[in-house]
This record gives sequence, structure tokens and C-alpha cells, in this order.
Amino acid sequence: MAFVRACAVSELAPESALAVEVGEEDVAVVQSGGQFYAIRDECSHASIPLSEGDVGDAEIECYLHGSRFSLRNGAALGLPATEPVPVYPCRVSGDDIEVDVDNPLPAP
Ligand code: FES
Repeated sequence: MAFVRACAVSELAPESALAVEVGEEDVAVVQSGGQFYAIRDECSHASIPLSEGDVGDAEIECYLHGSRFSLRNGAALGLPATEPVPVYPCRVSGDDIEVDVDNPLPAP
């Protein structure tokens, strides 16, 4: 599939996440520290949408039990989650954010 449009840059406020569908994948597109990231929109602990959690310092926090995940590589940074979440290549193209869900970044 390669890079496809996920959303408009203008849809993402600083330090926020937006739930989008890219192909058949649920993705959270996130802005943090002026950078854009794309992470599977599913906590590795109990399938909760990460897009509803808090964002900061290139991390996203699951609202249910508080596990944090790196937006750079998907690593679980706090219990109870121990498994990483896939992170996808993400780029700005004009006014849009594009994501490549077929080529997740290497797991940490
Ligand atoms: S469901 Fe996300 S930490 Fe438990």
C-alpha cells in the first residue's frame, strides 16, 4: 500500500492524537513536540484505543491502566503493558499526513 493519506495536518492539535483508518488498520496519528507519529490504535494490554489517551514527550498513555508507549518505536514504557505496539512510518506531504501501515518500524 505504501504511504497513503491519513488525515490533514490541521486536524491535529499539538500534543494530541486522532483515530483514523488506514486501509484495514486502526491507527492513532499523533502530534508531539512538533513531530508527527503513527501508532496502531490498540493498547497491547487490553485492546483499548490509544488515541483516547494523553500525549506528551513523544509518548502516549493508555487511559485505562496508564501504560505509556514510545511514539518513536512503540516500546511499552510502563506496566501493566509489556509488549510493544507497532509504529508506522509517517510523513507530511503538503497539507496531509501520510502513513505506511505495510512497513512498520522495527520493534524495540
Ligand atoms: S488496556 Fe492499556 S494499559 Fe491496560
